[in-house]
Amino acid sequence: MAFLLGCATSSHQIEGHNHNDWTRWEDAGHTRERSGAACDSWNRWRDDIRCLTEIGANAYRFSLEWSRLEPEERAWDEAAAARYREMLAELRARGLRTMVTLFHFSLPLWVADRGGVEWAGAADAFGRFASRCAREIGEPDLWCTVNEPNIYAYMSYWKGVFPPGVRSLRRAVLCVRRLNDWHRRAVEGIRGASSTAPIGLAHNMRPMDPLRRWSPIDRVMTRVSERLFNGIPERAFDDSEYIGLNYYSRDLVSLAGIMSTPTREVAEMNDLGWEIYPDGLYRCLKQLARFGKPIYVTENGVCDTGGGKRAGFIRDHLVALDRARAEGVDVRGYFYWSLLDNFEWALGYPPRFGLYSVERPTFERRLAPGAEAFREAAQRYATLDRE
Ligand code: FCB
Repeated sequence: MAFLLGCATSSHQIEGHNHNDWTRWEDAGHTRERSGAACDSWNRWRDDIRCLTEIGANAYRFSLEWSRLEPEERAWDEAAAARYREMLAELRARGLRTMVTLFHFSLPLWVADRGGVEWAGAADAFGRFASRCAREIGEPDLWCTVNEPNIYAYMSYWKGVFPPGVRSLRRAVLCVRRLNDWHRRAVEGIRGASSTAPIGLAHNMRPMDPLRRWSPIDRVMTRVSERLFNGIPERAFDDSEYIGLNYYSRDLVSLAGIMSTPTREVAEMNDLGWEIYPDGLYRCLKQLARFGKPIYVTENGVCDTGGGKRAGFIRDHLVALDRARAEGVDVRGYFYWSLLDNFEWALGYPPRFGLYSVERPTFERRLAPGAEAFREAAQRYATLDRE
């Protein structure tokens, strides 16, 4: 397979008018705004595919919305399945490779009402869902079972800013474990349905460094924090055929905690105060190489409203990726987050990660400043692949 240079999205962030634990969370006023119509991608998915081809992407990572496909336990929505099937077929017809994610932070209400990830029957239900998707949606090029178990656990069960809004370290740790079980059950479900596409999950990594390199306390704190946040899901990786890496930034750590806004001289930051640190991508890839499995960068991107940082961000991160590849790390693809400006969870719509902006109320997609760096990269990789 050629090197994949694609874009990523997730169902709840772009589809619009979902009916899941997130919409309920939004209705209860826990987010800056409601997702509402989002990017209206449920209806405008052909526009999204047009954007992908226009920008030169040869791959698309998107997620299936569980609450649409199985709105009630064991009640399968044929019309929703047909829509995803059509999408997958159209992507293939356009020569785009696909990575399909099964859980990207949003749950059907019937799962959430029984305790979500903490419900003892959840892994079973997810395994069944995965199997049914594999039987009925079609064969993607890659499956991604769960998006970022560690971030989901952190946001939903420790910080409490994602549903169900729990604040407990113990339950957060348990949540990661549960999601690793989900991964295994999904692998069984997909294989049971005779799908042979490689399966993996998307793991988020943020390299950590001591804020003050000379400080023994900061160094200890860094090690502790790395353990807590970046703990490699070894078992889930063992159950995978490839490793998915979501990389955005690094953290500098001190006794005061983890600072995503470094106080020392730092080259650049994105609009959310995350340091722009391309070397971190190289470091993560080198670290993951020891598993001896193909690696895909399943997400990497910059929140940049002005658009002045995007081109440099893309170029510099691809340089870091190429450096790892040149040193023998088996990186097979890179998905930019995100194709579109979309609903950024608790933060609503202000953060702009997209290669395309989405105008309201027309939903017109417009190329964002800096996005041309992606197109140039796509041309470069395509030429390299031909040589
Ligand atoms: C990742 C999430 C993705 C998006 C980006 C900015 O952690 O997987 O949905 O919110 O962050």
